[in-house]
Amino acid sequence: EKNGHKHFMAKEIAEQPIVIADAIRSYLPSGGDQVVLPGADLDFTKLDRLTMVACGTAFYACLTAKYWFEQLAQMPVEVDIASEFRYREPPITGRTMALFVSQSGETADTLAALRYCEGKADKIVSVVNVPESSIARESDIALPIHAGVEIGVASTKAFTCQLSVLLMMALKAAADRGTLTDDELADHYAALRGLPTVMNAALDQNPAIKTSAQRLSEARDVLFLGRGLMYPLAMEGALKLKEISYVHAEGYASGELKHGPIALIDKNMPVVVMAPRDTVFDKTVSNMQEVMARKGKVILVSDDDGIAEAEDGVWSIIRMPHVHSSLTPILYSVPAQLLAYHTAVAKGTDVDQPRNLAKSVTVE
Ligand code: M6R
Repeated sequence: EKNGHKHFMAKEIAEQPIVIADAIRSYLPSGGDQVVLPGADLDFTKLDRLTMVACGTAFYACLTAKYWFEQLAQMPVEVDIASEFRYREPPITGRTMALFVSQSGETADTLAALRYCEGKADKIVSVVNVPESSIARESDIALPIHAGVEIGVASTKAFTCQLSVLLMMALKAAADRGTLTDDELADHYAALRGLPTVMNAALDQNPAIKTSAQRLSEARDVLFLGRGLMYPLAMEGALKLKEISYVHAEGYASGELKHGPIALIDKNMPVVVMAPRDTVFDKTVSNMQEVMARKGKVILVSDDDGIAEAEDGVWSIIRMPHVHSSLTPILYSVPAQLLAYHTAVAKGTDVDQPRNLAKSVTVE
């Protein structure tokens, strides 16, 4: 049942090109030239804002989606952790869509946050992996992510399928609201359809990622840095590493480095820098140089162009294929997940059932 893999987590990481292809096919029908939300009649011109709520990895998917909805569809977005949102009881005014993201669909805090929005939000929408779950049943619209059953406690394929569905929702919003041209939309659709192939190329980098992980397994603390779309992923990479290898890790926005965490940098501190060659690349590289000037050990995750420009002095390199800039968080999830996986294997921890954690958190 593990398909020849040692752990469910490894199997689920490897499955991503297939399940993402399923998710993309069901929202972006082949031959079609628009995103169709299955079973949902959603018109984003009738909505002014989006409030997204989730926990853990699903929360990082929401943070990523904030960049997409704002940049592609010009929609104001608020994102919150469910346990904070539900007790803060924020005002929900205007034409708001409340959007809940949950793999299990049973997370107690997320469900309570959804119930708080009943009668207040214009539409209650959920993005779930389990269509029969409480969160799906109590939503006006439940959108499936098509990841299939996820057994590893550390969420992997559910995260990238959540991201794929959220990106397609943002593209539907952009099409409805006329914020992208037809050519721009067509570029996104073509890139999405090519994503499973590019994910396979990222998975082919497994040996290099394993070598870098060997080094992480000797560290006590690890810092993950990213800007823009890579910032939420830096936090997700740190969460994965903490959860299964018990190595302390923090994800930071690169620009925040000098506001505190730089004090931690010394020769014992590995810093994973997630940086495709995008519009904020130069800024991230200068942050990376600040780390190296203090003898911090940089693991650079980038593409050919980025590596050619910035490889001097880095400790190790993980090379990613080039991809449309919107898709980088999905693609760069692969090295984030595999770094945590191989570190955990090197440390001999229980990868699929890490201590103190449950797959579904149904109590608060
Ligand atoms: O089932 P959910 O997506 O609502 O779960 C949310 C979190 O509990 C979950 O993502 C958790 O953080 C994972 N262990 C992350 O790997």
